[in-house]
Amino acid sequence: MAIPADLDPAKIQAALRSRLIGRPLEVLGEVASTNDLVMAAGRAGAPEGLAVLADRQTAGRGRRGRAWASPAGVGLYTSVLLRPGRPPGRASLLTLVAGLAVAEAIQEVAGLDARLKWPNDILVGGRKLAGILCEMASLDASVSYVVLGIGINVNHGSRDLPVDLFPEATALSLTTGRTIPRGDLATALYNALDRWYAAFCEGRTEAILALARQRSATLGRPVVVLAEDGQWRGLAVDLDDDGALLVQEDGGGLRRVVASEVSIREALAR
Ligand code: ATP
Ligand code: BTN
Repeated sequence: MAIPADLDPAKIQAALRSRLIGRPLEVLGEVASTNDLVMAAGRAGAPEGLAVLADRQTAGRGRRGRAWASPAGVGLYTSVLLRPGRPPGRASLLTLVAGLAVAEAIQEVAGLDARLKWPNDILVGGRKLAGILCEMASLDASVSYVVLGIGINVNHGSRDLPVDLFPEATALSLTTGRTIPRGDLATALYNALDRWYAAFCEGRTEAILALARQRSATLGRPVVVLAEDGQWRGLAVDLDDDGALLVQEDGGGLRRVVASEVSIREALAR
């Protein structure tokens, strides 16, 4: 399938300033899910930094197998292979790392102030514009690889978003009134991810957490925590060192919330 002009791989590669991310880069037409492709590449020994970018996904997914709408020509769908060589638990910080990179790329290319809804959504004007799917595989106790999947709504018309997502979801075009070349956004994203992943590898956790706190749409808000065994309410107060959310439970104590276990909804003011 032909690659649309705004995803020209030669142009993206020429503008890359990254040391690691997007080297190599594979741009494809239609795929099932870029995360599936990169998970398989990770298993097969592909190098850290590999990025796969697709024009369209037929089986794009979010957390817990939920569908991610991935129409052709309008969205950015990419997955990046990382080999952080750290215990997988610490890698939950990587969702924050990706969120910061997405927010910076959006700022650079579209001039918009993006916020991070813990753990994996990126909001503009309170609406969901992008999401991150961080998956990891442990090959043995010490070696693992991580796939960071990123989906951004870029040039959607209101009819390109499924009706049940509208108006809770948005796209750069719907917010700015402009068409954004997807390749420019991909380049900015890989360059920003390169910087933030370097910070992660160098152990500059405080710098990551400080920016993530500043960009957070969740901290300071009353939340409902939906866990497997029921739901409870509290106030989102901080991020823990490993990226977990710290929630002051109503009438209770401080509880750590780990991304893989819960959904967070904003509670109406009490
Ligand atoms: P949670 O709080 O559990 O993370 P979520 O709504 O963020 O809830 P995810 O699994 O993280 O759920 O994200 C997938 C959800 O995102 C889908 O169920 C759908 O509601 C929404 N979604 C799917 N495609 C898009 C899209 N292109 N743009 C915005 N939102 C989308
Ligand atoms: C979410 O909000 O739950 C995360 C959505 C992640 C979507 C991206 S698109 C590229 C990559 N491939 C997928 O199948 N999912 C991620």
